[in-house]
Amino acid sequence: MKRILIGLAIVLVLIQFIPVNRSNPPVTGEIDAPPDVMAFLRTSCYDCHSHETVWPWYSKVAPVSWLVAYDVNHGREYVNFSTWQDLPSGKQNHAMEEILEEIEEGKMPLKKYTLLHPDTKPTADEIALVRRWVNGMGSHEK
Ligand code: HEC
Repeated sequence: MKRILIGLAIVLVLIQFIPVNRSNPPVTGEIDAPPDVMAFLRTSCYDCHSHETVWPWYSKVAPVSWLVAYDVNHGREYVNFSTWQDLPSGKQNHAMEEILEEIEEGKMPLKKYTLLHPDTKPTADEIALVRRWVNGMGSHEK
């Protein structure tokens, strides 16, 4: 038993040396939405869908770090609010529809994330806010 524990401890130490991509590349074309929509996206989505990820301490400890980095790097591939302006407007509109759909269906943010960050779970008001924004297709009218 003691040997197994020592072996496990050694493995845990060694895996800390496996490189993990936890980079926050430059923001090249941030999304331009009304301030209340921006506040919501920043709170609930930016950790996985922007280049302004806040990496908590547990995201630096393997093997949890692998899971967090996977979600961030994968999430950025789907939707990236830091490079949003690089998308043609048709793709932006499509992404906005997807965003509304994901939050209406309760699929985003990912459940494992809202468990750790309960304040990021969209409220009914926030969903209504995003719905108005998406139906107005990004216009800045209230
Ligand atoms: C913990 C990380 C994380 C957070 C926080 C998060 N997402 Fe995601 N998101 C992902 C990952 C990973 C994917 C890739 C596909 C999947 O796993 O469903 C994704 C995919 C998406 C997609 C594309 C879905 C598809 O199948 O085309 C949309 C749209 C999206 N997220 C919107 C949001 C919105 C809006 C928020 C905030 C309310 C949010 N996400 C918060 C990780 C996250």
